[in-house]
Amino acid sequence: MNTNDYIQREARHGAHNYHPLPVVLERGKGVYLWDVNEKRYFDFLSAYSAVNQGHCHPRIVQAMIDQAPRLMLTSRAFYNNVLGEWEEYITSYFGYDKVVPMNSGAEADETALKLCRRWAYDVKGVPTDQAKIIVCDGNFHGRTITIVGLSDDPSSYAGFGPFTPGFVRVPYNNIPALAAALEDPNVAGFLLEPIQGEAGVYVPDKGYLATARDLCKAKNVLFMADEVQTGIARTGKMLACDHEAVRPDILILGKAISGGAMPVSAVLADDHIMLTIKPGEHGSTYGGNPIACRVSMAALQIVKDEKLAENAERLGRVFRERVSAIQSPRVELVRGKGLLNAVVIKPKDGQTAWDVCLKLRDNGLLAKPTHEHIIRFAPPLVITEPELLEAIDIIRDTIEALD
Ligand SMILES: Cc1ncc(COP(=O)(O)O)c(C=O)c1O
Repeated sequence: MNTNDYIQREARHGAHNYHPLPVVLERGKGVYLWDVNEKRYFDFLSAYSAVNQGHCHPRIVQAMIDQAPRLMLTSRAFYNNVLGEWEEYITSYFGYDKVVPMNSGAEADETALKLCRRWAYDVKGVPTDQAKIIVCDGNFHGRTITIVGLSDDPSSYAGFGPFTPGFVRVPYNNIPALAAALEDPNVAGFLLEPIQGEAGVYVPDKGYLATARDLCKAKNVLFMADEVQTGIARTGKMLACDHEAVRPDILILGKAISGGAMPVSAVLADDHIMLTIKPGEHGSTYGGNPIACRVSMAALQIVKDEKLAENAERLGRVFRERVSAIQSPRVELVRGKGLLNAVVIKPKDGQTAWDVCLKLRDNGLLAKPTHEHIIRFAPPLVITEPELLEAIDIIRDTIEALD
């Protein structure tokens, strides 16, 4: 089969809910991916920041191999001998009393929303079914009905209504708007991405997170950080909230807590919040399965052992400095934090960010546009400086050749 055969087969049998870049990948190692023709690429998407530890990290692979023949799934109907070890590990890693294991990022966000509402009724004393949760313009929290109902992007929500009530949207990075929304006594929580990834890597002003946290605290409102994309060292600290020493009341994690090996997500909170949910009120068949727990402990330990946050912080600066220096009228802006960066492309002659990504692919680097004119660059955090410089040469040559 050639590349086109693979693509046509997916088009024939799979739902058309994605528009992948035309490249068919067959294997990966560290920062590299290979297609079915053995062409090698730098991976500058990292499966939307899930593969922070690099493709097929040997310690993650080994954790899977060791656990798979012993026990894969018990469900939560019974105890298993690994879940408690993971719960102890991850709660001490992030400094919370308790954790709920889930699978996808969207499920973790849904979990946080349920937890927040339950806390509102049981602890804060909001009248039954009156709780409100504040979210931000430009948010991306996943694809469930409730979550797409929070979105202001028609490609997320249009045609999927009616949506779940009880949410209020405010402009991102806007403290006066948040303060005004917090005046409503039925507000229970504020859900935000500390950097908006899918929207195009929007980094809020310095001080926004800390001020927002203070305002929430003053109004007895839970500050809930969706760190599904920004967490696990991606932005140069373990969590993006760490840049402002903000400890969320509810922390939502996914993607890289398994290093891309399998879907693992988690919601962390302290007892006065977490213990409001009682047996039978929330769960997931696969959440907390023994392979997920082993894989996740390996993935999180690698982040510390290999100092991936420090690497992301240092090489992120190199990336922004070098890419900002590219002499091209097509580069409008370079922004980001750590190794979560975006380049805003000025469209010309009908050429969009998509066309640039096709050329990058031809030149051996995979990245994906987010919206018409933005390209996100997010390599695995195990990337070395020589590898990064080689990748930047590809980006520079590709952009300079556009004109
Ligand atoms: C901030 C954020 N939250 C939630 C999600 C949804 O995660 P999943 O695709 O695993 O449901 C994403 C995915 O990109 C994300 O970036």
